[in-house]
Amino acid sequence: LCWIMVIGSEGLEILKKRLPDAILIGAKKSGTRALLTFISIHPNVSAANPEIHFFDKYYHLGIDWYRSQMPFATQNQIVIEKTPKYLVDPKVAQRVYNMNKNVKLIVILRNPISRAISEFVQTQWKQKRNIFDVEEQARRFNRMLYQNRRGNLTIRKNWSVIRNGIYVKHVKNWLKYFPLESFIFINGDNLVRNPHQEMKKLQEFLAIKPIITERNFVMTTQKRGFPCIRLKPGSDRIKCLNDQKGRPHPKINPSVFQDLDQFYKPFNKEFFELIDQEPFW
Ligand code: A3P
Repeated sequence: LCWIMVIGSEGLEILKKRLPDAILIGAKKSGTRALLTFISIHPNVSAANPEIHFFDKYYHLGIDWYRSQMPFATQNQIVIEKTPKYLVDPKVAQRVYNMNKNVKLIVILRNPISRAISEFVQTQWKQKRNIFDVEEQARRFNRMLYQNRRGNLTIRKNWSVIRNGIYVKHVKNWLKYFPLESFIFINGDNLVRNPHQEMKKLQEFLAIKPIITERNFVMTTQKRGFPCIRLKPGSDRIKCLNDQKGRPHPKINPSVFQDLDQFYKPFNKEFFELIDQEPFW
């Protein structure tokens, strides 16, 4: 089934499954779900809810399979899918280019240190470790983080938790196929503090009416410290992310934090030069 007919606000409408116009490619643990949830309330957006993993995992199933995974959309809607793995998998950029060289690419990035801790916490949850013992978590993080190189402790940059945050490396690969104008870089830290600012940027980039504004966001006790979105300004209907988003983080000790800061500093600098923007962090 690839199209349906419905009676909508504009009369009879045909909804079709189409390949995406925009893809949210990452970075993992930077607020990708929040960004997709927020943009999904826009009437001119139709977003696939699950992560499709077509270009990294299911490519062999073919483009018709990919299309079949898309949500139904009217002609006036932009179709979006998100799979945060795409940013860091070196095969993906060329495959996306082969599908549509004009596709819009959405990247949301968070300070790589908190991103790394967030990903580490997620792996601990998946392994069903006792994640509420934050001190044990911090010790475990340190054990994974360092390697002994001829008597020196250095950061294990091949640990995916660390490597995924070397944004310059991953974005450079994408830039082999797409010009800088194909991308928007959303600040994941600011999406928590000032979500409307990031949503304004995103709506502009997607060339849709900027109807998601400050009035859509609300802090509830249900989701302390993280904004939830009102489906319409003034409406009581509110959507928050589930408990797997906004997990408690272990407290990393200051010297480890400093090592990570030193480690990421040159990569961050190179990254913001590459995309020609003021540093977010
Ligand atoms: P933590 O759970 O480590 O705090 P992703 O969706 O890409 O996996 O990113 C998860 C992160 O999104 C969370 O990491 C959280 O910090 C962040 N986030 C941003 N806005 C959020 C929101 N409104 N509600 C919940 N989490 C949000």
